[in-house]
Amino acid sequence: MASEAPSIDALIAYVRAIFGEGFIPLHRPVFEGAEKDYLVDCVDSNFVSSVGARVTEFEKRVADFVGARHAVATVNGTAALHAALVVAGVEPGDEVLAQALTFVATCNAVAYTGAEPVFVDVDEDTLGLSPEAVRRYLEAHAEVGEGGACINRSTGRRIAACLPMHTFGHPARVAELVAVCDEYGIPVVEDAAESLGSWVGERHTGTFGRLGTLSFNGNKVITTGGGGMIVTDDDDLAARARHLTTTAKAPHGYEFFHDELGFNYRLPNLNAALGVAQMERLPDILAAKREVARRYAEFFEGRREAFLTERAGTTANYWLNAVQLASRAERDALLEYTNQREVMTRPIWRLMTELPMYQHCQHDGLANARWLEERIVNLPSSVPAGWLG
Ligand SMILES: Cc1ncc(COP(=O)(O)O)c(C=O)c1O
Repeated sequence: MASEAPSIDALIAYVRAIFGEGFIPLHRPVFEGAEKDYLVDCVDSNFVSSVGARVTEFEKRVADFVGARHAVATVNGTAALHAALVVAGVEPGDEVLAQALTFVATCNAVAYTGAEPVFVDVDEDTLGLSPEAVRRYLEAHAEVGEGGACINRSTGRRIAACLPMHTFGHPARVAELVAVCDEYGIPVVEDAAESLGSWVGERHTGTFGRLGTLSFNGNKVITTGGGGMIVTDDDDLAARARHLTTTAKAPHGYEFFHDELGFNYRLPNLNAALGVAQMERLPDILAAKREVARRYAEFFEGRREAFLTERAGTTANYWLNAVQLASRAERDALLEYTNQREVMTRPIWRLMTELPMYQHCQHDGLANARWLEERIVNLPSSVPAGWLG
């Protein structure tokens, strides 16, 4: 660690030049727009809960921004993902292809449906689910049954969905994933929780699959405190998502009739008011985050650590900047040294296959995911104070 300290000191000085003195968190929200005004309006109107104009307005803004026909707001990204999987047709006893290198919510949403994740490897450059690995897995294990269902020969269970995640806002090879899954009749649901403002070409992440989901948790690019969104171009899926996330209540002026088991997942108006104000600043926030990433790229140019940059043909939102260290030892040295000096850094997540509830799940060896797990570190990535003007 001692021999690494001089270069880590240089990094700390560089980070402090961007973010200033004192404790530097990984990601803090910025409220420099109409947030307070909209919240006060909301309180004054008495519409603070799940009925209110701000929810619809927030949905419309997000749908327009990502270029989806529909957006359905939910209480958080996990709820969005859970409902989206149900809407996509995932049922108890099914299997869902997912990456092991992800935040636990991705897999928890699968487990909430009663299905089980099957872990397939990621691409080394995107950190997202690999279309080649998915193809290899399906060629080795899957067959399309008579009714069109894709069956895992080794378990006899249906592979009901594929769930890529756009890690830290870097778009996965999602068009290629959809193409592979189409051959097997498997719907793709995208976990775009981290990738608001990330595109593949001109198309926003989350709009390639049958449904996509976003998160507006406090640590995301923009926040509603807690919140999520389901996006889709499919009218029927959108209607069902809206129905399921609002307790499956049949529309009626005063009668209560719920026609199936629904969820109380609707985003409150109070949170949506925050969301509308945040959406107004989103282009500026994204521009500021790009500039932070550009500066990191400049710092790491020519150094042995590799800064993660957007893949050609894609736009990343650089939600969390990430750097790849040469070894686990170097990673640990960086984490220890920076965190001791109030510069927050964080290792990428432990693989899902290491968590007690997913240890038993099938996987394909996860060679890239294991390699990356030992080496990737997130760096402070907030919009620096004063940058938005
Ligand atoms: C990849 C991923 N999926 C799902 C979620 C869940 O979102 P939420 O925290 O809004 O439930 C998050 C973030 O928190 C995430 O990073």
